[in-house]
This record gives sequence, C-alpha cells and structure tokens, in this order.
Amino acid sequence: MAIPPVFRGYRHVKSGGLWEKRPAEPGAPGVVQPLVAGNWKMNKTPIEGGAMVYRVLDLCRGITDVDIVFAPPFTGLYTLREFLPAGFADKEYGLAGNVYVAAQDVFFKPDGPYTGEISPRMLKAIGIDMVIVGHSDRRTRLGEFFGIRGSVTRRLAPQQLVAELERLRGDGEVDPNIIAALALLTDPANRHILDGLAAYLIKQFTERTGETEEVINKKTIAVVDQDLTAIFCCGENLQAREGGRTFQIIKGQIVNGLAGIAPEKMKQVIIAYEPVWAIGTGQIASVDKIAEVHAFVRDLVERFYGEEIARFIRILYGGSVKPDNMSQIMGIPNVDGVLVGGSSLEAADFAGIIRYDLPARAA
Ligand code: PGA
Repeated sequence: MAIPPVFRGYRHVKSGGLWEKRPAEPGAPGVVQPLVAGNWKMNKTPIEGGAMVYRVLDLCRGITDVDIVFAPPFTGLYTLREFLPAGFADKEYGLAGNVYVAAQDVFFKPDGPYTGEISPRMLKAIGIDMVIVGHSDRRTRLGEFFGIRGSVTRRLAPQQLVAELERLRGDGEVDPNIIAALALLTDPANRHILDGLAAYLIKQFTERTGETEEVINKKTIAVVDQDLTAIFCCGENLQAREGGRTFQIIKGQIVNGLAGIAPEKMKQVIIAYEPVWAIGTGQIASVDKIAEVHAFVRDLVERFYGEEIARFIRILYGGSVKPDNMSQIMGIPNVDGVLVGGSSLEAADFAGIIRYDLPARAA
C-alpha cells in the first residue's frame, strides 16, 4: 500500500466508500488533531515521572498540533497534575492546552466499600482528563498472576482427587455423575486425561480471568458520565488473528464496550486498536493490517453513530510504536495517533514519537 505524506491536522472524508485524510489548517472546524498517549503501566515513582514529563515537554517545545497524554500509575496522578498546573505547560513550553493526564484504569462505582478501587469522580476531583479503559493487560494478561495455575493444579492433584472421591462416596446426597467422573479421572490408566483437563482449565481460566466486556462497558459509561474522556482499547490476540476472527472480535469488543453511550458523549471517546500480539513484542502490525482494522472501526462507528461522529472520532494504534515507525503509522488512513507503552518511558523516545515528522531535537 502506498503511504501518503505525513501531515498533522486533517479531516476524515469518505470518498468512493473509503475514508481518506485530507490536510486541513489546524484549528479549522472539523479538523482532527493527532494524539500521542504514553501508558507507563506499572513504572515510575511520582518524582521520576514528573521529571521525565518536563524533559519530554522541553523536547517538544512549540508543538501545539498534537495532543500529548501521560498516563502514570495511580500513585503518580496527583503529583503529575501538581507538576502541570493550569497554563504552566503553555507558558513554559510554548504549548496550547494540548497536554493531558490520564489514569490507566478506574472502577465504575462512584464511591463505596470497594477496597483498592478508585472512581471516576475521584479522578475528576484531582483534575485528571482521561482514562484508559479495557487495556488488554486488564482484559486478559493479568489473569496469569491471579493464582489460577496453583489453584487448578492443587484441586486436580491425584491424591487430592482420591481423597475427595472417598469423601463424596460417603455422602449420600452427591450427584452420582460427579462420583463417576472422579472415579474415571483418578484411575491411573487415565492420568493423561487428568493432565489434559488441568492444562485446559488453566488456559481457559487464565485467558478469561480479567475484565469482561460488561465491566469495561460500565467503566466506559462511568468515565464519560463524569465528563472525562475514555481511551477505549480493543484488539485481537494471536489465536484470533490466525483463526481469521479479528473483525468479529473487534466488533464484539466495540459494540459491547460502547453499548449505551449516547451520541453526544462520543466526543469523549477515543478508540485504541492494539493487537495483543504486537504489544511489548517489538513486532508491530503491518501497514495493511493496521489500515484494514482502522477502516473497519471507523465504518463501524459510522454504522452505529452516523457519519459526523465517524469523522471526528480518533482511532489510535498501539503495539510496539517507536520513534522510527511513527511517521509510517501516521501516514495510514484512519490512524489518528498512538497509544505507546515501552517507548513512553524514555523522554527522548516519547518526544521522538510526538515530533514524528519533525527532526529530532537534542536534549
Ligand atoms: P508497547 O505497549 O508500546 O510497549 O507495545 C503498548 C500498550 O500496551 O499500550
């Protein structure tokens, strides 16, 4: 696919059934401004984060036509907001209100007995602008750390099952099918079936132990209801990609995740397409793959919300974005910016991504 030249401000225009980016004067009506968001994940103390943000802004002096978003962990949010009081970045670094602070997650209740959780109302109260919702780390990957392997392995340990079978046989009320199943599983001749079952359950539970589409939908609604902006993440894993289910997965995530969001609230929604297999792997999706999913997402938004909303919604790409692949990514139709993990942790890298089509500036 030919990659058009890079430009910053543009309009999305549909022509011959395809979306195109047409250059436009920054600030003109309907102009989309690219957005670069850095998701620090579980990295940086508040002071380390604040110091890096100043270095990034120093390297990005005068760049007013890209929205810059920093997403520190919860512990860094308040401090970062204090580091960036209203008007400070504009005055010190020649910016134009285009620096934002985002949380990486949120709970959907306003307050109450939810140990360890943070609500959108609490984020709003400390001046946070945006919230990342439904990141694939939270949808699935963190399931690895929830002790599922240990808990399945313990329950399906052969001696444990033999003891359980004895106990259940002595209990007249138990479903005979359970006893029959345990008798089969504890037969030493069937050890391979038991091992296979354990492996299957570990895989199923690990992959599915995370935020469901229903929870992500509640969080997205809670975020926009507080007039914060949601950076709503979607993306297929390798298995889905190889099984030809990419579009079906993305459609399900978006339709279910954004259910019940009123059209007037869509100004507060940014969609980030992050193929799980490209996150943190150094293996960026090809230009064609990014282009087809992004076009699909914009068409989907058009189908559900109409052309006007489809023209302004920003669709970010995420997954192994680096300073040296950023210009190419931004040249792809329907890509309105990026969500960056690893390369958002070093000032020079993150600034290089924000500056993408401009020469690097020495620190
Ligand atoms: P990465 O992460 O840039 O390190 O691939 C992207 C993300 O998880 O948002």
